[in-house]
Amino acid sequence: MITCLAVAGYRSLRNVTLELGSLNIVTGANGSGKSSLYRALRLLSDAALSRAIASLAAEGGLASTLWAGPERFSREMRAGTMPVQGTVRAGPVSLRLGFASDDFGYAIDLGLPIPSMTRFSYDPEIKLEAVWTGPTLGRSNLFAERRGKLVRVRTGETGEWHEVVRDISAVDSMIAQCADTADGLELLILRERMRAWRFYDDLRTDRDAPSRRPQVGTFTPVLAGDGSDIGAAVQTIIEIGDAEALRNAIADAFDGAMISVGDRFEVEMRQHGLLRPLSAPELSDGTLRYILLAAALLSPRPPELMILNEPEASLHPDLLAPLARLLVLASTRCQIIVVSHAQKLVSALMDVGDATQIELQKNMGETTVVDASAPVWKWPSR
Ligand SMILES: Nc1ncnc2c1ncn2[C@@H]1O[C@H](COP(=O)(O)OP(=O)(O)OP(=O)(O)O)[C@@H](O)[C@H]1O
Ligand SMILES: [Mg+2]
Repeated sequence: MITCLAVAGYRSLRNVTLELGSLNIVTGANGSGKSSLYRALRLLSDAALSRAIASLAAEGGLASTLWAGPERFSREMRAGTMPVQGTVRAGPVSLRLGFASDDFGYAIDLGLPIPSMTRFSYDPEIKLEAVWTGPTLGRSNLFAERRGKLVRVRTGETGEWHEVVRDISAVDSMIAQCADTADGLELLILRERMRAWRFYDDLRTDRDAPSRRPQVGTFTPVLAGDGSDIGAAVQTIIEIGDAEALRNAIADAFDGAMISVGDRFEVEMRQHGLLRPLSAPELSDGTLRYILLAAALLSPRPPELMILNEPEASLHPDLLAPLARLLVLASTRCQIIVVSHAQKLVSALMDVGDATQIELQKNMGETTVVDASAPVWKWPSR
């Protein structure tokens, strides 16, 4: 389980550290930094696929994703007696992401290259990476480190440092490149975990949504990000997963209704009062969305971490309590972070179980966490 998440220099997240529980709900007003937090997590998981630089580029590069405020706020700037202005930078340009879990911690630090005769001199590069054991980074528990192009790993009983790669490319992460069963077994474990983090922010339910169309069904223990393989995912849960939990979740939300999967792998719903089941194209947006969420959350192959962005969109308030129950059930199998606008979902979660509420607010353009003491976190230094 991830116990702590840290982001610095990314959009409005100038310097945020969060403590996480098994079920977390992130809320806050418009512009408080919820989506930025979601994207920061995505960027971290992209690092495990060596895709972080490419996804940063897709977001407009470092120039646009880097914190746009001053390096530091002086007391006078906070009090308003002095205008907010940048001064000569004390530290290098840096965008940092990291997390600590029960057993490992990881941090990555991205910056700008030394100017040279290339048209790519604004491409960000990975300056530093560190992997350590235990909750916080210290001198003795660091076991893999990347500085520029050099990757070192500590191995053996004596814990000797051992150079693994001398010329890793600036866009490749060491956990993606140096994970192997000989020197980098821990890196391999970490990489596989991070690659498996599952993000849902685009479950489509519009008229042309792929989830409304028949499909070729194959064994599907993990619902696709857009929900296109919903029929196969539901059938897989029925065959090898917790079919009873799925049945209960649907009956709980829709007054005893039942879902099944048709010949062409389309979901169907039997409702009290109707002579025939309704097929996917006939289901309402909210109904289909709830079924998609149930299939995602009851995956027979749960990841270590699942992140849902605004799952309540288009759900009637009556469905929020069943959704909260579903989230609580799913959080017994994997760690969950929900980013949400709906205060009602927060209250429903608090009613049915224990969730960690993370409320974000914006203060002088910077995202801060309401009423929470920051957990202990130490960045590796360049
Ligand atoms: N490079 C940057 N530096 C500082 N702030 C930024 C930067 N890029 C975007 N922002 C601001 O950060 C804030 C947080 O944006 P974000 O999209 O995370 O908000 P949100 O909480 O998801 O809001 P909403 O509820 O409207 O979706 C916004 O006000 C945005 O304008
Ligand atoms: Mg948002």
